[in-house]
Amino acid sequence: MSENRSTFGSRFGAIAAIAGSAVGLGNIWKFPYVAGENGGAAFLLIYIVITLLISLPVLLAEFAIGRHGRGNAFRSFVNITGKKGAGAIGILELLGAIFVLASYCVIAGWSLEYIYQSVAGGFHGMTQAEMDTKFDTFVASGWRPIMWMIIFLFFNAFVLVKGVSKGIERCSKFMIPALFCILVLLAGVNLLQPGFQAGAHFILWPNWSVVTGKTVLAALGQSFFSLSIGMAAMITYGSYIQRQESLTSVGVIVSLATVLMAVLAGLAIFPSVFSYGIEPTKGADLVFKTLPPLFAELPGGYVISILFFILLFFAALTTSLSIMESLVAFFSEELHIKRIWALAIGFAIIIVSSTFCALSQMPDSQILVGGATLFDWTDKFCSAYILPLGGLACVVLFGWFVPHYVIEHELTSSGKTPLWIYKFLVFMMKFICPVVIIILLVNCVLDYFGIDMIQSFMNMFA
Ligand code: ALA
Repeated sequence: MSENRSTFGSRFGAIAAIAGSAVGLGNIWKFPYVAGENGGAAFLLIYIVITLLISLPVLLAEFAIGRHGRGNAFRSFVNITGKKGAGAIGILELLGAIFVLASYCVIAGWSLEYIYQSVAGGFHGMTQAEMDTKFDTFVASGWRPIMWMIIFLFFNAFVLVKGVSKGIERCSKFMIPALFCILVLLAGVNLLQPGFQAGAHFILWPNWSVVTGKTVLAALGQSFFSLSIGMAAMITYGSYIQRQESLTSVGVIVSLATVLMAVLAGLAIFPSVFSYGIEPTKGADLVFKTLPPLFAELPGGYVISILFFILLFFAALTTSLSIMESLVAFFSEELHIKRIWALAIGFAIIIVSSTFCALSQMPDSQILVGGATLFDWTDKFCSAYILPLGGLACVVLFGWFVPHYVIEHELTSSGKTPLWIYKFLVFMMKFICPVVIIILLVNCVLDYFGIDMIQSFMNMFA
């Protein structure tokens, strides 16, 4: 195990980089809508409880495997168990990294196109139909999204080539506070909107009547994606956390910061939507079609639009840096090559996979998997199977197969964290987290066959 391995230089730097990985497109374009659709504050509460009870132990297992294994996602598993076969879990996580990045970089490229569009002319006075056509024509062009995706990857390269402390950490220390300030500013401007109350109500008002078993599973899936679990990033970043740092407190701070950013994103988005009496949509439709003309109407609309897409770009960049770094660390350490060559290999893989994803969105594209475009399929397949499977394997391996003294040393930071927290975490890792993740996985498989597991279960008692 190499003790010369790079580490984050400071606590703030480590938290900024890890929060940067967690806060991403998932928080800004998915969370607010999913929360609103699933009972607002009721979902938020369930999400926080699930994040702290289930996702946090899995996240800590990933951190601890990385920090103790002191290697890339593959090598850390081999080092911590002494068995080469355990490296397969790392390979699964690295596969998750490639799957996530394939569509993530395409969307990040869209944000660059929209920064350009906002600066060039803005969206003032455009109708919803014009916005729809604008976005659809852009995506259908094929070459333009690919060009922006490649430019986005160059931003990644620019940071990653400088290494962990001077590249990732320095960049995150600037971007995470900037991201927070932009979100607060956008939420502040929305405070003056007539739809603020309705927007805040949508995501903050508890509506328990719509909460079902499916809501809990939705919260679990969202929470895993949000904390970048199962995509090698947190194992790799874990390996850069200094030995004296408390993993538990870093994990709690990052988890809560992620929730806070997601709520702020909701407050920055929905008041405008409700002010114009528009039905809230999600994902690409919300961010690239519905919002731009609404933001353009706000006081200072020209600047607000630019800031919003910069926000999206920053969020995507800090996340992609962490996932890309997992690939770079893997190739440089396993092939014993310089970082720059490892970066080149990682780039080649992501450029090819993202290009196919972008092309699959063109009209009449034949790049389909199971009837869905490759773009949609990679996202769904990864979120439903690869990420939970990676998380499950990590938590089971760490809880059951790693020596006790290692678990205790990592989770208590050599006795600094109270023993009851350590005992509670181990209990969750050994028993509760695996069961909950298996339920999530079984539900995804049954869902694929059109069986509603939760409903079937409830029918048994009806
Ligand atoms: N954690 C990242 C996100 O939420 C993957 O976008």
